[in-house]
Amino acid sequence: MATLQAVRGMNDILPGEAERWLQFEAIVQGWLARYGYRNIRMPIVEPTPLFRRAIGEATDIVEKEMYTWRDEMNGEELTLRPEGTASCVRAAIEHSLLHDGPKRLWYAGPMFRHERPQKGRYRQFHQFGVEALGFAGPDIDAELIAMCAALWRELGIEGLRLELNSIGAPEERARYRGALVEFLERNVERLDADARRRMHTNPLRTLDSKNPQVQEVLAQAPSLAEYLGEASRAHFDGVRRLLDAAGVSYTINPRLVRGLDYYNLTVFEWVSDRLGAQGTVCGGGRYDGLFQLIGGKPAPAAGFAMGNERLMALLAEAGRLPAPPAPEIYLVHQGEGADTYAFLLAEALRAQGASVVLHAGGGSFKSQMKKADASGARFALIVGENEVKAGEVAFKYLREEAEQVSVKRERLAEFLAAARERAK
Ligand code: HAM
Repeated sequence: MATLQAVRGMNDILPGEAERWLQFEAIVQGWLARYGYRNIRMPIVEPTPLFRRAIGEATDIVEKEMYTWRDEMNGEELTLRPEGTASCVRAAIEHSLLHDGPKRLWYAGPMFRHERPQKGRYRQFHQFGVEALGFAGPDIDAELIAMCAALWRELGIEGLRLELNSIGAPEERARYRGALVEFLERNVERLDADARRRMHTNPLRTLDSKNPQVQEVLAQAPSLAEYLGEASRAHFDGVRRLLDAAGVSYTINPRLVRGLDYYNLTVFEWVSDRLGAQGTVCGGGRYDGLFQLIGGKPAPAAGFAMGNERLMALLAEAGRLPAPPAPEIYLVHQGEGADTYAFLLAEALRAQGASVVLHAGGGSFKSQMKKADASGARFALIVGENEVKAGEVAFKYLREEAEQVSVKRERLAEFLAAARERAK
């Protein structure tokens, strides 16, 4: 029979790696709590029109990357979520989450995009998403950005570059779009096929073309910044003032427009040079029009999402990931009555908070001790017929120079506490 494998671009995260993920997630969750963000969990499947409306028809995601199908039972068009912002705002509207004021929310989980898989780019990937709903001021944009900077510090990730831009209000962008299309049409013979196609569907997206020749043409293009009105400029100044005060450095990238259509005013990305072509580890911005766009009462909002796989790759490269935790105790046992005695002993120790691997599968003491050593455990407990009869346990230090000791069963907890103290 042909061997079955995971779907291309969708990865198993194996033990060892998964424990590093858990540690990463624990750090992120602690950080989110310190900023007062609360967890929300949305379904992984949503009605397709949600993403069409929120992300925009003329985006790569909606045009070609969504996993979409028709539910055979009722004909409903469904999509595996390619991102979390649309779902989060849908949930906020559906449950009137803003009825008693703005909300700071976060979510985490898998997202799905049918992209061409390569290093750092997968078809199932994982994000932490952070959304501040109902807040209009530039202070929130700055908070979101500064909190990213704090997380990178806490994780020990260095060398991330913050790119920042303001894409203004929709009317300002519309006027700019007109000028840009005019410019692109005048230079059409110097554009590649992709830019020519986007020129009419989503002209602003030509700005972040990766083709150097197209970039050369665009260097002469009109700048979006010149089309921003006073309110947009003031908002951007407000964000920058706070970032400057907080010592968060950034570069203004006038070509940064992001790949989703719901943004206005502030947009930003955190980029690493160490990840090859897929260097963006985190991206976001303000999306004041999204509530209304998907049928809610208007409400301002801003947020970002980070790509866990990319951050995990940076953490691994920097050697920042702590080794997966080993069990504290490996319990070996052999002989008459030893299996029950050891089984109950392991349960009792776990109930007291110790982590205990109880040897399973039999074998000689020698082979069991090899497993104990390989497990990385700090202590081995040994139960043989003699220990069962005497109501004792042999206590062996696996990582320290110390004699093996026989300990009375009822004194084990006390002995273990003292043993833990020894190497502190
Ligand atoms: P996004 O820029 O599409 O934004 O994705 C955010 C992050 O997810 C990226 O910076 C990247 O690290 C990661 N990512 C995206 N696609 C892939 C992929 N195929 N493989 C691996 N990692 C990937 C959003 O999703 C918005 N919802 C962010 C946001 C929240 N804006 C406002 N609030």
